[in-house]
Amino acid sequence: MGWETVLYSVLAGVVTAPILIKLFYPHFLTDARFILKSLPITKLERNIKNNVSIITRFIQQAAARPDRRFLMFEEEVYTYRQMDRWSNRVGHFFHGQGPRAGETVAIFMLNEPAYLAVFLGLSKLGTTSALLNSNLRSKSLLHCFNVSGAKNLIVGKEEALRSAILEILPELQQQGVTVWVLGDQVQENGLLPLEERVEAASGEPIPEELRADIKMKDIMAYIYTSGTTGLPKAAKVSYARMVYASMFFGLSGATKDDVVYCALPLYHSAALCIGLAGTVETGCTWVLRRKFSASKFWDDCRKYNVTVVQYIGELLRYLCAQPKRANDKDNQVWGALGNGLRPEVWSEFQERFGVSDVVEFYAATEGNVGFVNVLQKFGAIGYASPLMRKLRPCNFVKYDVATGEPIRDENGWCIETKPGENGLVIAPITQRTFFDGYAGKKALSEKKILRDVFKKGDGYFNSGDVLFMDTDYFVYFVDRLGDTFRWKGENVATTEVSQVLSEHEPIQEANVYGVKIPGYDGRAGMASIIVRPDHSLDLPKLYEHVAQYLPPYAVPRFLRMQQAIDVTGTFKQKKVASVEEGFDPRQVSDPLYFMDTSSKTYRPVDQDLYDKIIKGEVTVN
Ligand SMILES: *[C@@H]1O[C@H](CO)[C@@H](O)[C@H](O)[C@H]1NC(C)=O
Ligand SMILES: *[C@@H]1O[C@H](CO)[C@@H](O)[C@H](O)[C@H]1NC(C)=O
Ligand SMILES: *[C@@H]1O[C@H](CO)[C@@H](O)[C@H](O)[C@H]1NC(C)=O
Repeated sequence: MGWETVLYSVLAGVVTAPILIKLFYPHFLTDARFILKSLPITKLERNIKNNVSIITRFIQQAAARPDRRFLMFEEEVYTYRQMDRWSNRVGHFFHGQGPRAGETVAIFMLNEPAYLAVFLGLSKLGTTSALLNSNLRSKSLLHCFNVSGAKNLIVGKEEALRSAILEILPELQQQGVTVWVLGDQVQENGLLPLEERVEAASGEPIPEELRADIKMKDIMAYIYTSGTTGLPKAAKVSYARMVYASMFFGLSGATKDDVVYCALPLYHSAALCIGLAGTVETGCTWVLRRKFSASKFWDDCRKYNVTVVQYIGELLRYLCAQPKRANDKDNQVWGALGNGLRPEVWSEFQERFGVSDVVEFYAATEGNVGFVNVLQKFGAIGYASPLMRKLRPCNFVKYDVATGEPIRDENGWCIETKPGENGLVIAPITQRTFFDGYAGKKALSEKKILRDVFKKGDGYFNSGDVLFMDTDYFVYFVDRLGDTFRWKGENVATTEVSQVLSEHEPIQEANVYGVKIPGYDGRAGMASIIVRPDHSLDLPKLYEHVAQYLPPYAVPRFLRMQQAIDVTGTFKQKKVASVEEGFDPRQVSDPLYFMDTSSKTYRPVDQDLYDKIIKGEVTVN
């Protein structure tokens, strides 16, 4: 073939390529736009390869722009340099106390600047932080602390946190745990005041040798998630995972000049991984709030000149539910970044508050599959064309609605769904798409892994989430399967609730699931209960029991008194039929009860109460 022929073929190719592409692969342009918008991922994958952790990035940012604001909290402002030095003090102090690289220190605090100083300081030593949910009490708290294997516990200054720890202090002391407390007046025996000691420590850099043995696959934090079984599990968040999490700010378009607002708790990955890591990576300013307040949200945004807000689905709904104000659009917020936003809130939020960009993402704290809606397709969580799935593998498979398990074909393999169908999302476990797993018994992590999926010996992470992929390959969230449901932005593990209920003497068995209520995100907890023969249930006593042993969001909102609980062939409780029946007395012949926080009991659900709840005249907390 002569040069001329080649030249002509190339020229012809240039002319016909777009036509061919449109005919045979019509999604080429969307793919190209998506890839261009996703460039930050490439940089961060390089960081992982080069062992550049979030801590390294933080130290780099503090050196490059020391006087830039790192954090604003209430009336306090901390520059990168100030936070760097504060965290050095924490590191130097704890280094003198014993914790070494690879050991774990537990943190039980509410949102405040010291949380970040503690987390960053401990990470500079290479120690792992176990981030305890500040709502936990008694047995659940002890369990979560236990699985972390920590020998040191740092407690925030609030009275409620301190008294929760005092309640379990004898057990902690028995295990030889040292308890450190922030705040001025620490008088209780067995609690060591931390603040003055940290203030007295050196602010000089922590020697790098102390964390020299830490690798990207090592654990930076334990974040607790309610999985599909039992009590909360400590998801391992590796250094590599934190680097991945740090990309979301960049993907949303945020840069060092942005001010990002976060009112989510630091013990969750939305704040700690996406928020803190994203701030460090971009070098922007983070505004942290102690606790979310719908009525103060926009005042805060104005006060701090916020440009981007972080959310979880419920949060934007609460903002839209606030009475309209004349200054609703008086803000500089251009972007919202988060997950769980429902379409009905999406456009209302954008229009009412004048926010031009909404970037939804999907990611589980421990999962190896994630999506980001960088193209801002309305209602979607991301895009998964065949090319994208080649680059970041994941599969959508058929599942059994009744059991929540994938359906297998006659040869035992999983069956992929087609665009236009709902599918359970799973992702192959590889070196690049890794699954860090959970602390404790291997079986805990193994439960999230599907084996022999498409061929003998393969392994896939089972997200437990049902997603819908449309025929243009945009992906939408549908539901969480099986034993976990979401309420008030928290995952409720039904088995944990059943376990606590079963510890109440008159209860023989409890089946817990979530029921939909019109106008509410997620599902409200319903406990289907069988009372032991010859026992009767004292409702105020039951209320007292659940309120004591469960975090507030997990306390069942409804009770259903049953004679027998249906089980499947493998003796799993059948939840699906009950879920569909909900709490409608017309559909459920069993007696139903509704949580009454004011009189601290449960009261019967009759048609009148049901109608009021449906119409929103009675609020479900
Ligand atoms: C990163 O760390 C790993 C594990 O210690 C090591 O094998 C690798 O060579 C390091 N890469 C670079 C670029 O330093
Ligand atoms: C925590 O661990 C200790 C010692 O291993 C054990 O005695 C205790 O029962 C555990 N508590 C919980 C709630 O798991
Ligand atoms: C917000 O911007 C205004 C106007 O530029 C400025 O005066 C004010 O100090 C800023 N506030 C903060 C907290 O940065």
